[in-house]
Amino acid sequence: MEKLLHTAINAAKEAAKIQLEYMEKELDIQTKASEFDLVTQADKLAEAKIIEVISKDFPEHSFLAEESGQATRDSDYLWVIDPIDGTVNYAHRFPQFCCSIGLYFKGEPLLGVVLDPCRNELFTATRGHGAFLNGKKISVSKIETLTRALLATGFPALKGGLLHRNLEYFKMFLGKCQAIRRPGSAALDLCYVACGRIDGFWELGLSPWDTAAGALMVQEAGGTVTNLDNASFDFNVKGVIATNGLLHQPIKDVLDQYE
Ligand code: IPD
Ligand code: CA
Ligand code: CA
Repeated sequence: MEKLLHTAINAAKEAAKIQLEYMEKELDIQTKASEFDLVTQADKLAEAKIIEVISKDFPEHSFLAEESGQATRDSDYLWVIDPIDGTVNYAHRFPQFCCSIGLYFKGEPLLGVVLDPCRNELFTATRGHGAFLNGKKISVSKIETLTRALLATGFPALKGGLLHRNLEYFKMFLGKCQAIRRPGSAALDLCYVACGRIDGFWELGLSPWDTAAGALMVQEAGGTVTNLDNASFDFNVKGVIATNGLLHQPIKDVLDQYE
């Protein structure tokens, strides 16, 4: 496990160098599924670098990465990679983005690494051994009531039914919790739940690379992560609720009021 984690951290640090280097340059910003769904050359270069670093140490392993899709290697090890989570922020030089690397073995999470290069914050988790921020153990918050809770969510780049539904959820939480944030990087949102900066997070339209590392981070920090129906978390199912555990049912109860 130590070697796997070491490689993941190295790969994340290489990605961070690329992110910071290209932030100083003119970005080539292109659109993907919609005009609000962006990709830059830094996303592609960072992803290629992450895969290169990991492949060098583990040539047999498989990859599922946002910009290049699934590598068809037949391995029980699957690395799930988001080279820049928060690309819209990145494209605006808004300093809230990261790279996210999760490793799964036969479908079970083994480790997660999330690196925020702007704050130099490295979040790591390995299954059964806790979650850490820059090497210091982290835990979820102890807030027990929604009225004292800081929540976060995000909105999908595709402006469809999910957007409308989440706006309704957003309105339902306003006035019930202390405040809601929309920081723009789901992987960091999950890490913020893990270290107690946010008490609960929900989002509807996420992809595996958004949550693969962050979900383990929350679990290893003592929190709870489920899909929207309260089933145990599966990154292939799009909706996620991640909380300090104490607020899981109260948050679920508000979401369930939606008609
Ligand atoms: C996005 C971010 C954002 C979330 C979107 C994601 P990307 O990822 O995580 O916070 O609200 O749903 O797509 O596209 O910047 O990698
Ligand atoms: Ca993402
Ligand atoms: Ca991304």
